[in-house]
Amino acid sequence: MKLKIVLVTSLITASAMATESSTAQGLAVKQEGIKYIKMLGKALKTELKAHMKKDPTGLEALTFCTGSAERITKEVNAKLPSYAKVRRTALKVRNSSANPSDMIDKKIMRAYEAAIEAKTFTPKDIKVLKEGDVTRVYKPLVIKAVCLKCHGSQLNPQISTALKSAYPEDKAVGFKEGELRGVIVSEITKH
Ligand code: HEC
Repeated sequence: MKLKIVLVTSLITASAMATESSTAQGLAVKQEGIKYIKMLGKALKTELKAHMKKDPTGLEALTFCTGSAERITKEVNAKLPSYAKVRRTALKVRNSSANPSDMIDKKIMRAYEAAIEAKTFTPKDIKVLKEGDVTRVYKPLVIKAVCLKCHGSQLNPQISTALKSAYPEDKAVGFKEGELRGVIVSEITKH
């Protein structure tokens, strides 16, 4: 008799969990999060590309990013519905006032790092996490060759000087290609 009750309860739990992640509604939230992640990613990437083209050393792009990444992030957020947000963060942060991380962010980023280490990683691994009314959607950002000019270990001395003066606490240097640089995360509150 007792066993029966336990079984029934676990069946209910299993079906409730399935509802979270695989219903049409759950998928719709994921897709919505991805849309906002792409908006921020695209806005920053377009600017970075244009400035790197103008000055391949990266110095001009660096000056631009230092002054404008925060503004661009705010502008993208202003276009989103009031129940949604999008931001970037990292385990090794450069702009710690604009891009801080919390415990959940750190846990997700460590999981991505572990997957990279275990060679099971794919940049398409979008992680969805629900806590209370808020669903977070994460996209990993991996270091590519172009990122090394400002996040690598052999920086142009001018870049290095400019970084030290703008971000005295900069932790986002010394990366290699293929490592996790950070994430873009969208937070969607149930509405
Ligand atoms: C021209 C220099 C430059 C290049 C190239 C560059 N970054 Fe950055 N990055 C910065 C600066 C400056 C900041 C801090 C300002 C900001 O974006 O908030 C930053 C911040 C970040 C952040 C936010 C977290 C933090 O540490 O503050 C992420 C994530 C990031 N960069 C990823 C990348 C990736 C991925 C690439 C390559 C596709 C890249 N960056 C290329 C200069 C650069």
